[in-house]
Amino acid sequence: MSLLQINNLCVTFDGEDGPVHAVNNLSLSIDRGETLGIVGESGSGKSQTAFSIMGLLAPNGRTEGSIRFDGQEILGAKPKVLNKIRAERVAMIFQDPMTSLNPYMRISDQMTEVLTLHQGLSKRDALAESIRMLDAVKIPAARERVRLYPHEFSGGMRQRVMIAMSLLCKPDILIADEPTTALDVTVQAQIMDLLGDLQKDFGMATILITHDLGVVAGFCERVLVMYGGRVMEQGPTEPLFAAPSHPYTCGLLAAVPRVDDADAAMKAIPGNPPNMAAPPEGCPFRPRCRFAAEDCRVMPALTAFAEDRARACQRPVEEVAA
Ligand SMILES: Nc1ncnc2c1ncn2[C@@H]1O[C@H](COP(=O)(O)OP(=O)(O)O)[C@@H](O)[C@H]1O
Ligand SMILES: [Mg+2]
Repeated sequence: MSLLQINNLCVTFDGEDGPVHAVNNLSLSIDRGETLGIVGESGSGKSQTAFSIMGLLAPNGRTEGSIRFDGQEILGAKPKVLNKIRAERVAMIFQDPMTSLNPYMRISDQMTEVLTLHQGLSKRDALAESIRMLDAVKIPAARERVRLYPHEFSGGMRQRVMIAMSLLCKPDILIADEPTTALDVTVQAQIMDLLGDLQKDFGMATILITHDLGVVAGFCERVLVMYGGRVMEQGPTEPLFAAPSHPYTCGLLAAVPRVDDADAAMKAIPGNPPNMAAPPEGCPFRPRCRFAAEDCRVMPALTAFAEDRARACQRPVEEVAA
């Protein structure tokens, strides 16, 4: 049994001009200790997938399908059940640490509160554990800096604090939603290195959400490529990078700056992601796809084509990969 098993998840919002189908028939599974990347441009449905797992969708959103965590159905579960899972087993970190940190509370109070409330630790033990976690995320002089307020940290250090907080409950799954997008490139690399080390030390399953395929390369064992609320392609990272099977994945890969070719201009995919309130008929990538043909007006099913790999594209793999 997978630690997390999502089957046919659909997320629909009541929009001003009718329903917005933000996520369509998404299925994924992740086992203990595994690393999964969810990649796609802005608006692909990545965050709404994560919010569905956390039970944190906006009030105008509804879900269908199934999300099983450790065998238990959590989609539509009671707030009490979800609170417990969020407090003890699934943690999420965001692009902006201030979504999780309270600007008016010292870090020490925010961290110890988690431990005294949810894990029954004494104040003293909770403080010691908080400092240990700040050490684990390599915040220098943690013993002193635990007394600071969030705004007294730099962006990168604040992200470390948020990671430390998310690890306090020793989660089985960590969901990191664009954890480095707001940071400059050097700090980004440091945070990804840190997340990689922590993932190995703590052994938690990790879902890394990013628009940057380059970020998943060194971190994730498996990748799921999303576009227009759908899975376009999925598979183990190495073969997927070596031989992408979907035109969208090919486009994302071409946009990753290459270390061996520093001068190469980044080739962003021409055009923009669809307006999900009025998406194109059939394959959402059709208007931007250089392989698009008439039959792409019908959305192809996600279909297995090689070991552990699947794609949703009408064009044959050979044609796309050539
Ligand atoms: N509360 C909402 N009401 C209507 N549409 C929404 C709402 N929240 C998100 N959406 C839409 O859902 C789609 C997917 O969003 P999201 O999952 O946040 O994308 P991303 O892949 O960038 O994380 C977007 O088109 C967005 O406009
Ligand atoms: Mg997002």
